[in-house]
Amino acid sequence: MADIIGNKAAKNFSENVPFANSGDFHVKGSSNYDWGMKDRLSRIFNPESGKTVMLAFDHGYFMGPTSGLERLDILIPKLANYADCLMGTRGAIRSSVPPTYNKAIALRASSGSSILQDDLSRESMVVDIDDAIRMNASALAIQTFIGADGQKETIEELNKAVNLGFKYSIPTMGVVAVGKEMERTTQFFLLATRMLAEFGVQIVKTYYCDDFEKVAAACPVPLVVAGGKKIHEKDALTLAYNSIQGGAAGVDMGRNIFQSEYPVEMIQAVGKVVHEGFTDKEGFEFFLDLIN
Ligand code: 5RP
Repeated sequence: MADIIGNKAAKNFSENVPFANSGDFHVKGSSNYDWGMKDRLSRIFNPESGKTVMLAFDHGYFMGPTSGLERLDILIPKLANYADCLMGTRGAIRSSVPPTYNKAIALRASSGSSILQDDLSRESMVVDIDDAIRMNASALAIQTFIGADGQKETIEELNKAVNLGFKYSIPTMGVVAVGKEMERTTQFFLLATRMLAEFGVQIVKTYYCDDFEKVAAACPVPLVVAGGKKIHEKDALTLAYNSIQGGAAGVDMGRNIFQSEYPVEMIQAVGKVVHEGFTDKEGFEFFLDLIN
């Protein structure tokens, strides 16, 4: 093992140099994969823009019916057509999303804790790969707690998903968890995102941070940025804009869409910023035009 004492800190990220091993495929780090993996990734990442708008509505798996997601059956079908990919649990998707929508699914496949516990840092892969295949999942989403108590077990579960994913050409999306005591520094996200990529995931879901372009440059697979707590629509569009400018391949946004007073309009504005090169200001003007 490398001696970590006296290890030189990474500093030369060549942020302005494009990823070198893209070949003819639009998803970073995936040019060497087979047809099935590329087909699923192309359902998530639009081949024209190379980007994705994921709609995250998996909150109920540990929080119950949070604000905005009281009725999955009413809300999600209204938003689904504006998303490239739906991130949810098998229970939410099977019960409330018509299969005729034919959307890419990032299937929440890890679980194990709830808001009734103090420690949320332990999750295991709870969805069988057979069921993910039955649901035609485009990716398996597994939460990983780097730097928290559950680190070892969640890394093992992530690797289990990666192994099964390779067996059936289903991408794995490693989800960087940020527990309440965990720091949100550039150093932390550099470490966590790179670790997940090196475990073999095809997508990393993470949070925006200072020097995000360094985090994106150092991670050889696409980053999708979580929305986090509800903020003003203008600020959420700035978050999406900064993420894309910083090298993210999309957003995986939940509360900033479904807790907006205008969720259908908000997801469309996010799509403009992610796919069509709108600035945050243009995205917000578009949003205002839609709601007025
Ligand atoms: C939790 C998740 C959520 O999907 C994620 O937090 C995205 O939702 P939001 O934009 O509301 O933060 O992965 O582990």
